[in-house]
Amino acid sequence: MCGIVGYIGKQPAVPVLMDGLEKLSYRGYDSAGIAVMEEHHHINVRKAKGKLENLRSLLVKSPVAGCMGIGHTRWATHGEPNDLNAHPHTDVQGGIAVVHNGIIENHEALRRYLTAQGAVFVSQTDTEVIAHLLKYLYCGDMKETLLKALPMLEGSYALGVICDAESDALYCARNDSPLVVAWEDGNGYLASDIPALLAHTRDVIFLEDKQIARLDANGIAVCDAYGNPCYHEPFHVEWDLDCAEKGGYAHYMLKEIHEQPEALQKTYAPRRPHLPGEYRWLPVSLSEAQSLRKISIVACGSAYHAGVVGKYAIERLARLPVEVDIASEYRYRDPVIGPQELFVAISQSGETADTLAALREAKRRGARVLVICNVVGSTMTREAGESNTLYTYAGPEIAVASTKAYMTQTEMMLMLAIALGDLRGTLSRSRVEELLKGLEQLPVLAEKTLQAEEMLQRFASLASQKKHVFFVGRGMDYALSMEAALKLKEVSYIFSEAYAAGELKHGPIALLKPGRLVVATITQSGLLEKTLSNLREVTARGASVLAICRESLAQKLEGIAQQIIAIPDTDDWLAPLLAVIPLQLFAYSMAVVRGCDVDKPRNLAKSVTVE
Ligand code: G6P
Repeated sequence: MCGIVGYIGKQPAVPVLMDGLEKLSYRGYDSAGIAVMEEHHHINVRKAKGKLENLRSLLVKSPVAGCMGIGHTRWATHGEPNDLNAHPHTDVQGGIAVVHNGIIENHEALRRYLTAQGAVFVSQTDTEVIAHLLKYLYCGDMKETLLKALPMLEGSYALGVICDAESDALYCARNDSPLVVAWEDGNGYLASDIPALLAHTRDVIFLEDKQIARLDANGIAVCDAYGNPCYHEPFHVEWDLDCAEKGGYAHYMLKEIHEQPEALQKTYAPRRPHLPGEYRWLPVSLSEAQSLRKISIVACGSAYHAGVVGKYAIERLARLPVEVDIASEYRYRDPVIGPQELFVAISQSGETADTLAALREAKRRGARVLVICNVVGSTMTREAGESNTLYTYAGPEIAVASTKAYMTQTEMMLMLAIALGDLRGTLSRSRVEELLKGLEQLPVLAEKTLQAEEMLQRFASLASQKKHVFFVGRGMDYALSMEAALKLKEVSYIFSEAYAAGELKHGPIALLKPGRLVVATITQSGLLEKTLSNLREVTARGASVLAICRESLAQKLEGIAQQIIAIPDTDDWLAPLLAVIPLQLFAYSMAVVRGCDVDKPRNLAKSVTVE
């Protein structure tokens, strides 16, 4: 989704802005642009449709220079991706330039009003109204102007603004869209996401909703919606740029798949109980756990699929009813939330607009909330409060398609199920010990599972021309199949769908014929025979099967599956955490063979901050 950068300081702005945009490009975008304050208080704008390379070429042909500017990568919402709709946008005279993430919901009314006042619009974007509105209200001081203009904007925004009448200051503001600012050694920076700043500083300030910041040679001044000064302690980012670089791998996605053993370890190790029944990391007390009546899990995309695994695990291990909802559905379905219920939001970024809105809705209805998140300091973690947040320590995830974040979210779900099962007395002590031991061993087994890479590459080179792929499984394997189908469609553009294996015969079997591929996950020993019957129905129609199964079950698949990928044996409840690895590698290898842009699939965004 869109990315914002801004710079003011002693260095030429263009390399700083372009480097920042490059660091944000993983979020997905379809055009890019910068505005730079040149000498004589003149703002120069350059923008280009397509990849950053196009903007770079334009800057070679038509350079700009100056020590202050703003930049943007755009993921189209209002108006097609083209040069005109790319940001920055300016007022008619070009004296005010704006970059914006988010959506201005009342842009049509504002557009009509400003047009009547003489503004001439050149793009189809909602953002352009902001530039014209700021010009219309400009009173000689951009901070005062923003204080007047921002209450007129309905919707979400992270804004970067420069103005030729104030060539010594850079402004920004946020509402429901993330924005970080930093000041280091006479240089001021702003960005929508931390990676854009890490080359310059590790100490950042997260702006809060409705705050405005002014950056100049003296530092950063933040104020609230009334103009009252606000102070923020800078947040020190622990991870560095190396974590967000490819480190010798062909793609971020492959690197992140390989980082999963470490991510599993980092997420579990700090929560390993030192004494039986001790779950200090869990923000739910013993009495609360025992009196809980229901859990509602809400998320989007891969995080939603982690929630589905959570449903199976929590219901069985802790004997608690669990509802899992897609966030965009939850928020509008008038959900029933009562006392003794726990609302759990899962999100890698902590910024996804629908999940954030669902979290707010649950809080508004008085729910007890818990956020499972990967990004420290993100909006959801701040709104839930640190004490109601469980961090997955997957490290920065750059590839748009989630792998290690999903892995640690799923691990977190299992840890929650085990802890609740223990506290509620629905699991025996010995069973808890067995499961915890299994969690302990997972990183080593995950490392072993990665060895399937070559076999999957070979299989992918044979299967790469498939037009449809079905993913089937039962129980937790069905939850896993949903994630596997999403992964394949996201990165390889092959139409893929997940079905509960027992449901195949109720419709989808009509599509099976020679040449079709069915990917079956079989990790649940109790469901093996049932799934085998379903797979025989598949092969009887001439379709072929790729089976991902536990080592000890592999023999049973012989004669049914065209290719068997065996994963190390572990507890039934933990096996999906291993089985997802070959499924990710399969999607990755298919995308590579098909020549797809693996890390930045078309039309997708890493952090979806619009509804
Ligand atoms: C986007 C990403 C997905 C991700 C989903 C939820 O669609 O492309 O990979 O699973 O958003 O993101 P979140 O940050 O809330 O986990």
